[in-house]
Amino acid sequence: MELGLLNKVAVVMGASKGIGYAIAEEFLKEGCKVAITARRESELIQASGELSKLGEVYYKALDATRENPVYDFAKDVSERFGAIHCWVNNVGATGKKAGEEYSQPELDFVVDTCFKSAVYGCQAAFRYMKRQGGGTIVNISSLAARCPSAGRSTLYGPMKAAVVNLTNTMAGEYCAYGIRVLCVMPGFTQTPLVRSNISQEELEYNCKGTLLRRLAEPEEIAKPVVFLASEAASYITATTLEVSGGRSVTLNPSYSYDKKNGAYI
Ligand SMILES: NC(=O)c1ccc[n+]([C@@H]2O[C@H](COP(=O)([O-])OP(=O)(O)OC[C@H]3O[C@@H](n4cnc5c(N)ncnc54)[C@H](OP(=O)(O)O)[C@@H]3O)[C@@H](O)[C@H]2O)c1
Repeated sequence: MELGLLNKVAVVMGASKGIGYAIAEEFLKEGCKVAITARRESELIQASGELSKLGEVYYKALDATRENPVYDFAKDVSERFGAIHCWVNNVGATGKKAGEEYSQPELDFVVDTCFKSAVYGCQAAFRYMKRQGGGTIVNISSLAARCPSAGRSTLYGPMKAAVVNLTNTMAGEYCAYGIRVLCVMPGFTQTPLVRSNISQEELEYNCKGTLLRRLAEPEEIAKPVVFLASEAASYITATTLEVSGGRSVTLNPSYSYDKKNGAYI
């Protein structure tokens, strides 16, 4: 399938590793110029060194929870590459609470990282896309928006649900400018975030409740993101795509039936 991304410019926020890195890699494979960010410059330099083997990469270390650095970065990218065609808001973190209640700093962290970063990203992209008469924004939510992560990362799900609503809201606001806004909702994916936050026991439990019986690889999330951002998805906007290996349907215990053994699994 022709994705129509050759020589386009793609921004991926939070791309020194994990899903964001894989998204940057897929855009480069399609012939895009790519701009990436993360907070830790050393990891960004390493990532950009690897990604540069595939095409032109611009990187800048910044904290996506602060608005001006995000807007300045968009300006840099636009001046350097002449346009911004695709923008992915991938920054997010589980945002745990240490005690029974969220403290103010813990609450600020999860709201800023999961929600405000996406708002700043949408607004930064819009500044340049409206001038050029179009573009695509893809927000990264989480299956936790649909299946609550109660008890530990309690507010991660609500913030990721807000990202889904933000997608539809911005799609309505930006459609007059030829800008599509989309969302991808990943299930558990093999990334540094998951490896450092989720126990092996919990991952195995989750795999048992997933139709495809395994976690996703980062590129399995990245490819749908790049598809949605591409010309091949030109009639899709205000849409959230769940990429979870069939995790949410199994919340109905009789959904998956093994005919061979005559049992629900
Ligand atoms: N992995 C999963 O199972 C899963 C499932 C559902 C949804 N998601 C979502 O998918 C996205 C990516 O997750 P991941 O697992 O790939 O995470 P990850 O491995 O922790 O990678 C996150 C990336 O974002 C950067 N980042 C984090 N906070 C930032 C900030 N404030 N400003 C700028 N950059 C920042 C990180 O670099 P620095 O730390 O150096 O800034 C890193 O490059 C997140 O939105 C996450 O909520 C993940």
